[in-house]
Amino acid sequence: MEIIRSVSELKEKVAHLKADGRTVGLVPTMGALHAGHISLVDRARRENDAVVVSVFVNPTQFNNAKDLQTYPRTEEADCALLREAGVDIAFIPTVEEMYPTEDTRVFDLGEVAAVMEGPMRPGHFNGVAQVVSKLFSFVSPDRAYFGEKDFQQIAVIRRMVELEKFPVEIVDCPIKREDDGLAMSSRNVRLTPENRAVAPLIYKTLKKSVEWARDHSLEDTRRLVVDELNACPGLEVEYYEIVDPLTMQPLAEWSTPHNGCARGCVTCYCGDVRLIDNIKYER
Ligand code: PAF
Repeated sequence: MEIIRSVSELKEKVAHLKADGRTVGLVPTMGALHAGHISLVDRARRENDAVVVSVFVNPTQFNNAKDLQTYPRTEEADCALLREAGVDIAFIPTVEEMYPTEDTRVFDLGEVAAVMEGPMRPGHFNGVAQVVSKLFSFVSPDRAYFGEKDFQQIAVIRRMVELEKFPVEIVDCPIKREDDGLAMSSRNVRLTPENRAVAPLIYKTLKKSVEWARDHSLEDTRRLVVDELNACPGLEVEYYEIVDPLTMQPLAEWSTPHNGCARGCVTCYCGDVRLIDNIKYER
């Protein structure tokens, strides 16, 4: 595996791969890698001739300075995992390399960014669009891989791809969970042992709500999740919305027309760690 830190070298290496007729899969990450990331890499490995993984804690998508400062950074361990997973190129730039000048682009992300994480984290999705569009223009990947834990983020990236007309296939990959159901996340390492013990209740409650939804209204199902999670000491729901899986717009009733299976998206504080998760309602 080659570790590349400069944009020009990255472009040169990718140009060689493409000149040899090889397809390229890109897995954008912010490092602190875990088995969830590696499942994206494995899929990219199976579906492409070469795999590039970017490891970059992108400052423009953090709207909270403390969150940026405390975001885990584990480059050595990340490189060991990526090498073992058979990655061809790890792209690990500095902030100055990614943003030699301030990125002032404002993307018209529309309705998919106007709900849930959008208003809760102003500027977050624009920052994601900035960094992912830069990565796409450097690598011109055939496919790019994103985890469904950040369900709304995938819709935002699809919108950015549509705006910028990148010829890339966006591949969404299922959430990887710990044995007790907690969605894998780089932020989980910040949970105290007490918080870690209650965090699996998030997924347990989401699963219970899928059963409950069979003979309850959408609003009752939404309430169940909010009330049951808020009743657990150590957990506090920021929002729970049951949304259209493409437009991200909250649904009022199960019968509201939508594009496929409704998705329940939760953001919940566990102590001072903000965790997100989601579940599909196949009713
Ligand atoms: O999901 C993430 O880890 C980040 O938002 C991403 C897509 C790598 C952009 O920084």
